[in-house]
Amino acid sequence: MMSPTRREFLHRILSTGAVAATAAINPFDSGRCHAADTDTDEIPTPEPRVARFERMAYGMFIHWGIYSQLGRGEWVMNREKIPKSEYQKLRDTFTAKDFDGRRIARIAREAGMKYITLTSRHHDGFSLYDTRGLSDHDAMHTPARRDLIKDFTDGCRAEGITPLLYHTTLDWWQDSFRDDFDAYLEYLHKSIEILCTNYGPLGGFWFDGNWSKKDADWKEDRMYQIIRRHQPQAIIVNNTGLHQRGKLGNPEIDSVTFEQGRPTPMDRRGMKKYVAGEMCQTMNRHWGIGVNDFAYMGPPQIIENLCACRKVGANYLLNVGPTAEGAIPDYESAALRRSGDWVRMHADAVYQGKPAGIEGGGDDFGLDADGRLYLFVHRLGVRGDKNVTVGPTGAGPRTFTGVKKKVTAAQWVDNGQTLKFQQDLDAGTLTVHCTGFPYGTNTVVRLVKLA
Ligand code: GLC
Repeated sequence: MMSPTRREFLHRILSTGAVAATAAINPFDSGRCHAADTDTDEIPTPEPRVARFERMAYGMFIHWGIYSQLGRGEWVMNREKIPKSEYQKLRDTFTAKDFDGRRIARIAREAGMKYITLTSRHHDGFSLYDTRGLSDHDAMHTPARRDLIKDFTDGCRAEGITPLLYHTTLDWWQDSFRDDFDAYLEYLHKSIEILCTNYGPLGGFWFDGNWSKKDADWKEDRMYQIIRRHQPQAIIVNNTGLHQRGKLGNPEIDSVTFEQGRPTPMDRRGMKKYVAGEMCQTMNRHWGIGVNDFAYMGPPQIIENLCACRKVGANYLLNVGPTAEGAIPDYESAALRRSGDWVRMHADAVYQGKPAGIEGGGDDFGLDADGRLYLFVHRLGVRGDKNVTVGPTGAGPRTFTGVKKKVTAAQWVDNGQTLKFQQDLDAGTLTVHCTGFPYGTNTVVRLVKLA
């Protein structure tokens, strides 16, 4: 006989599996993540740093460096085969005059984001921090002449935002990356030690680039030990890239990545440790600013993507690409602030809500926030006069499965209106009679609070 915990667990996994079908609207749909590395069915308890990370739910990714002056993305050096002698000139014009860690952290806070992950060094090898003699390819050797990571970490803390650092492992600048890999790793590890010991407590490190040398011995353990020694609270992430979303790596890794793709539910049964999940995504099609890229997401897509992440308990790391001088472009901060109004309106569900096997039709689903249940209803329209509103209202019954608690009331979170419902406790189904948005409102994804 199956134990109740196992039965419940299987139900949870199978029901949350529906996300794979609904993710079809995303061209970067990915496979399911599974890692049974022991023969028990237990789900491990998250370590405190991982639990803290999961509770943060929503973060800002920032890609910024000397490449931002060209406005053609962070891969420009590689794509346009710019020789080092040419590329180096970008140092002479890098003023960082609009880079203000505190202002950026305030935008993140207003967006409802709890953390920021900033590129301390990207693949072009340029460091935003003072490398203290390791290299002259850093912010101290530019007209900016200041340690921008210091400005960033101080600014974050002043606004109550947790700073995390992205750091490349692939390096187009250091010849040793190609010619003497051991020497390169020495340099990389010293770089990480500098970051671990000069900027106070960090929320984590987000590495990227091991995918560029798949068969190399990256001495990952050694690098992660430096972090564990100096920054025990920091989580460790190492991006598996576009082609291996959700894949687990070294046992020290605390979260898997879903780059540009909707995260799938994670099967944590039998894992040796609890690993979180995070989806990172661009607002248009570039990470570093692309001045001729107009394909921006707006608040509706941001809200829907955040919901798709929370549906499977993953974090959402949404990218901005600051200008040459280091300011977040107006259209990006405006979209973030506007979606932040939605996040604040639904804060309890967004931050505390956890997957609990509650599924609706289409993209609809439910979350359990410490016993408070929320239903996420998609594709509603605005009710109004036929001479002023267009499109269907989407009103009508919506059935959810997996609701095991007796429900006594259901109401819209945005205006408190109560809703009719029927429940079949034995079957675990709940049918809520949804109304369209009242004229004057459209919150994109509308939440029902159950009592
Ligand atoms: C990729 C790219 C990189 C970007 C990263 C963000 O790995 O190489 O430019 O920083 O994805 O996820």
